[in-house]
Amino acid sequence: MAGQASIGRTVDRVELQAKVKDMYRAVAQNPHGRFHFELGRGVAQRLGYPASFLDRLPEEAIDSFAGVGYHLGLADLREGERVLDLGSGAGMDSFLAAFLVAPSGSVVGIDMTEAQLEKAEALRARAGAQNVSFWKGNIEALPFGDAQFDAVISNGVINLSPEKERIFQESSRVLKPGGRLAISDIVSEQELPEGVTCDATLWAACIGGAMQWNRYTTAIEQAGFRLVSVRENQQYEFLSSSAREAVATYGVKSVSLVAVKK
Ligand SMILES: C[S@@+](CC[C@H](N)C(=O)[O-])C[C@H]1O[C@@H](n2cnc3c(N)ncnc32)[C@H](O)[C@@H]1O
Repeated sequence: MAGQASIGRTVDRVELQAKVKDMYRAVAQNPHGRFHFELGRGVAQRLGYPASFLDRLPEEAIDSFAGVGYHLGLADLREGERVLDLGSGAGMDSFLAAFLVAPSGSVVGIDMTEAQLEKAEALRARAGAQNVSFWKGNIEALPFGDAQFDAVISNGVINLSPEKERIFQESSRVLKPGGRLAISDIVSEQELPEGVTCDATLWAACIGGAMQWNRYTTAIEQAGFRLVSVRENQQYEFLSSSAREAVATYGVKSVSLVAVKK
């Protein structure tokens, strides 16, 4: 088994970022193609998104939804709040959050994949949504000042980064004191072995970067958060046989959680 230190050091970061961008360009442009994971309205509803909420969102954003949980059901977003969506993809969660905090609140989605941003922005413009914007950037170095947001949300993204600690520190920095981190992500019960963590393709498929759960929560707490709720998303299923094997062998799974900045 790989020790803690090998995770994130063994994967080639340049190759990983290229693979992640390729994977999510395909998710934006060809959501009905074949992926290791399920996309779209079916999985969203199974994870708990109310149909009445989805009916208000752009259909094409729902088609490219690649999230792994419904943390918005735990996030308690309120009118007037300012929300940051890390790895906003085609924008489904950003649009839903914008609806929940409207009319005086606003949402910023940030993503590094051009095709996802183009899709989200085109849908935003078509809908005439004024209280949501999409920014290009890396979530490990957020282009925002300190204490700007009431809530940071993220769905199925942090596992893709070899720098999870930095993402939690950056989330803490941009949140106001008492602000919430509400996320869904893929984690693992056991440490993944090097054969998995070295494989950039498995990372891009949301498996190789799954951090062992105790280390994941420690990283959140060390960034200045208090964990307040955790839920396992047993409805979330991977599709490919390599992914299912990792689930069975190492306990790779989806969780949603809320943590409050101290
Ligand atoms: C699994 S998709 C989830 C997208 C969206 N949250 C959803 O639920 O549909 C992951 C997204 O995170 C973005 N992403 C991954 N790593 C990132 C990073 N380090 N910085 C910015 N965006 C990143 C990808 O481009 C992709 O759009």
